[in-house]
Amino acid sequence: MSTSSSEGSPGGHPTSGQTESPARGIISRRAAAFDSSGIRRAFDLAASLENPINLSIGQPDFSMPAEASQAAIEATKAGRNGYTPTQGIAPLREKLLADVAADLGPTDRGLCITSGASGGLVLALMALLDPGDEVIIFEPAFVMYRPLIEFFGGRCVAIDTAPSFTIDVDQVAAAITPATRAILLNSPSNPTGYVVPGDLVRDLSRLAEARGVRLISDELYRSYCYDEPFVSPARFSDEVLVIDGFSKSHAMTGWRVGYIHGPKKLVDACATLQQYTFVCSPQVGQWAALAALESDMGAPLDVCQRKRDRLMEGLAGYYNFIKPGGAFYLYPEAPGGSGEAFAERAVREEKLIVVPGTVFGKRDTHIRMAYTVTDETLDRGIAALRRLAQ
Ligand SMILES: Cc1ncc(COP(=O)(O)O)c(C=O)c1O
Repeated sequence: MSTSSSEGSPGGHPTSGQTESPARGIISRRAAAFDSSGIRRAFDLAASLENPINLSIGQPDFSMPAEASQAAIEATKAGRNGYTPTQGIAPLREKLLADVAADLGPTDRGLCITSGASGGLVLALMALLDPGDEVIIFEPAFVMYRPLIEFFGGRCVAIDTAPSFTIDVDQVAAAITPATRAILLNSPSNPTGYVVPGDLVRDLSRLAEARGVRLISDELYRSYCYDEPFVSPARFSDEVLVIDGFSKSHAMTGWRVGYIHGPKKLVDACATLQQYTFVCSPQVGQWAALAALESDMGAPLDVCQRKRDRLMEGLAGYYNFIKPGGAFYLYPEAPGGSGEAFAERAVREEKLIVVPGTVFGKRDTHIRMAYTVTDETLDRGIAALRRLAQ
């Protein structure tokens, strides 16, 4: 089992700017303010249990495409092991730009290959934020958002979307202040699986453009849309900065290949910052990603949808949840009211590992389960969850 998923690092919510550390120790106050993520703790816990039912891992359980593995082997044998241009290898950039144009229509957007979607997020926030700038996020939210925003001196303005997880565009409009620099959207969502409907995506996109606020759209789970086709806010505004990557779509979490596309000036600024930080995404991974784009991912995505349906059916009547239209998570209310108490009881009584909602925001009302596991594990999980609900 992986102990180093991108989901596990960095982790926890920093308190820098809120509480002063009393003295300077070996590490900086900024580093000291980061806590080990709740997901990382779940990994550690799973490693210490015999035969746990682990529904905490946010990564696909299918293999990366065989063509992509083969391309990686060939690339390394051919000596393609050095740095690449900062923005990534030309054939991959060209293919991705053609795909973007096919989706959004003719465009002169800039595109830069990044070190995973996480690398794209880091560069985007570094390029956009000055200290004191506000970023609107929708909670529950992906674990990295708040720490990264605060790391760059920004301030998180969290809009609580529970229990429906939908977005109220009027509420977003009311949250915009002169200090608002960006809105960070993630649909399909980690952790809720919620997919924002197309008309709301359009309204949010138009609102951001009208108010001069950058909309950042994290589309890492774009290919996991089960019930409706995915709609990117970039369809409605050229100003949207998109974060995407191969980690989830092609089961390549360890290869660290992501990309950003958006207005050229902003993407160029991100590329400049990449020169001084990540340098480039690993070359072999980029060749593997290029081959992965030729693969048909329909079959594994169908299996994933079937697992979602199996889990929902298994828990219907036992748990309250919103049907997740995408990603590979179910985010039910925790029986008893506290996600943390429930997650703790689940481990103790059933060796079942789920992630409490407090990892993704302030509310302690929900739990996250990832259904990217074998059918056997899923069935054991359903049986354990049914017992725990009683
Ligand atoms: C919503 C979201 N964005 C970004 C990332 C980071 O992805 P990557 O592994 O490509 O860095 C993740 C990883 O779990 C995620 O869930």
